[in-house]
Amino acid sequence: MEAHLNFWLAVESLVKNHRLIIEHRRGSVHPLFPDYIYPLDCGYLEGCHSADGDGTDVFRGSLPDALVSALFISVDERNGGVQLKIALGTTEPENQLIYESLTKIGLPVWRLSPSMDASAWLKTRRSIRRFQNRKVERERIEQILDLTQWAPSAHNTQPWRFIVLENESSRQHLAEALGESFLQDLLREGIPIEEANKRVERSRQRIIQAPASILLCLAEEDIPQTARITQWEGERWLAVQSVALAGGQLMLAAHTLGLASVWLCAPLYAPQAARYALGLPDTWQPQALILLGYAAQTPPPPTRKPLHEIVRYI
Ligand SMILES: Cc1cc2nc3c(=O)[nH]c(=O)nc-3n(C[C@H](O)[C@H](O)[C@H](O)COP(=O)(O)O)c2cc1C
Repeated sequence: MEAHLNFWLAVESLVKNHRLIIEHRRGSVHPLFPDYIYPLDCGYLEGCHSADGDGTDVFRGSLPDALVSALFISVDERNGGVQLKIALGTTEPENQLIYESLTKIGLPVWRLSPSMDASAWLKTRRSIRRFQNRKVERERIEQILDLTQWAPSAHNTQPWRFIVLENESSRQHLAEALGESFLQDLLREGIPIEEANKRVERSRQRIIQAPASILLCLAEEDIPQTARITQWEGERWLAVQSVALAGGQLMLAAHTLGLASVWLCAPLYAPQAARYALGLPDTWQPQALILLGYAAQTPPPPTRKPLHEIVRYI
């Protein structure tokens, strides 16, 4: 795990310390091999040589941050044996383009990505409640949602909707609406007004200040219609379970791409207010608000119950 991290940190450091010179624009033809069309801008790291004496090849993707997204290793007997190419700031579809462009001309290719091995990766997702003051690019959100929609769903109904709160005004509207409803609940519980106001303000600020947030909704129109009332109840549950699976997958997808997240249940308690604040259709049931951003804390993992308490083999 640590060796894995050290390896990718070393690649990141190589990229940071050498200027990227773009030599070939996307769509241009390879000067020596006319059957190769560059799928993305391509160049090399200045002063950084690969084993064959050429510069290290780099593909530059469309993401503003030039982070290392993948390494492609190809075997090219015509042109110097084993070749290494670094993908910088590429989206997942762009990585696919690189892969396809190399395989199309007959090169065996293997791709390495910085995501961790599965077991470490599953255990290192944390609910993060403090984020860096750094924007989350729309491309990252799209990557996350593209991965999210591969979650399983009952009858493959995909009954989820994702409302990306990009504008501060949308976040303000939602925070106000949820805050008002939260305040009424606290007062009904007998919490003194000063304490209630403090808690509401904390909750409002979390929503407004999150670098990115996605309201996870259940679309009632996607629940299969059935005549039997007992079955209808079952179908509702299946839709809730499917949307929750998408929420979990969204958090893991964010983790894969180096982003942190936390699930907030507030909209579930005030679905009508949330819907109204954002002008959503009556049939979209808000289930959760997922905050996203680059982590500004590394909390220790909360404990988990021992397996023998929660598992029964029969
Ligand atoms: C359905 C659900 C609702 C949650 N609601 C909240 C919430 O409203 N506020 C919050 O800070 N965390 C919330 N969480 C996050 C949990 O507190 C967190 O997952 C748990 O403490 C375990 O920590 P970990 O996610 O870092 O493993 C929620 C998680 C789930 C699955």
